[in-house]
Amino acid sequence: MTGRLAGKIAVVTGGASGIGQAIAKKMASEGADIAVADINPADETAELVKAAGQRFFSAQVDISDEAQINAFAGQVRDALGSVDIVSNNAALVELVEFSDVSFESWNKIVSVNAGGALLTSKAFLDQLKESSAGRVINMTTTAYWESPPTFASYLSSKGAVNGLTYAMATDLAKHDITVNGVAPSVVRTPFTLTRLSEEYFEHHMQLQNLKRQQTPEDVANVVAFLASDEAAFITGQIIAVDGGLTRR
Ligand SMILES: NC(=O)c1ccc[n+]([C@@H]2O[C@H](COP(=O)([O-])OP(=O)(O)OC[C@H]3O[C@@H](n4cnc5c(N)ncnc54)[C@H](O)[C@@H]3O)[C@@H](O)[C@H]2O)c1
Repeated sequence: MTGRLAGKIAVVTGGASGIGQAIAKKMASEGADIAVADINPADETAELVKAAGQRFFSAQVDISDEAQINAFAGQVRDALGSVDIVSNNAALVELVEFSDVSFESWNKIVSVNAGGALLTSKAFLDQLKESSAGRVINMTTTAYWESPPTFASYLSSKGAVNGLTYAMATDLAKHDITVNGVAPSVVRTPFTLTRLSEEYFEHHMQLQNLKRQQTPEDVANVVAFLASDEAAFITGQIIAVDGGLTRR
């Protein structure tokens, strides 16, 4: 086995689609075995991971359900072994005018996006402590700083993810577990393709320093780096992967 993640076992939430699938594929190509927790089946991701020669396990899990994610952590240990890397990637988005945000839907978005990161990290904490190089990588967004219209629930959830990232980095350092965030801007995935127009993608690209659209692989490459031994001295950081958007 070769690669920067050889011998590691990684969990990717939301790994059935989009950025999560790219993270699973990239980490497998670097030598990690992969477990995916997603509400949807992850058959396509399974094929990609197995094609890279790595072991794969998945279950249909709602990460905002504590019993489900705790059971999943036990299943992963039985199937693959003790986990070294947790990529908290799964999320929902809701784009509505502030006056139309319901407390029920706000709670749902925050429960999945931030609550899911909390519950997944806690479910795998004992396994991360066993690792010689435990890693948690939380997915956030540059939209938190851009604050575009209609993002109240989503930005509330990602603000909580950012705070969780900083707090976990402090509390888990004594176990040599690093905790970082990765913040993409606009990436073409099922998440965005069903909600944003081609004009929006083009407009957003023009706001960046680098004039090309961001790919899921751009994000996955940074997650894989943060998961590797090369990133051992980085913790409590949120890294924007945005073609320079937030430096304009
Ligand atoms: N696509 C972008 O432009 C963009 C930009 C910034 C940040 N992000 C972040 O990247 C991450 C991935 O986004 P994506 O664009 O790949 O989205 P996506 O919709 O393609 O994938 C999200 C995955 O999460 C899963 N999921 C949703 N709710 C779940 C739950 N309760 N339990 C388990 N799984 C659940 C979905 O089934 C799906 O497979 C998210 O955290 C998102 O906020 C995306």
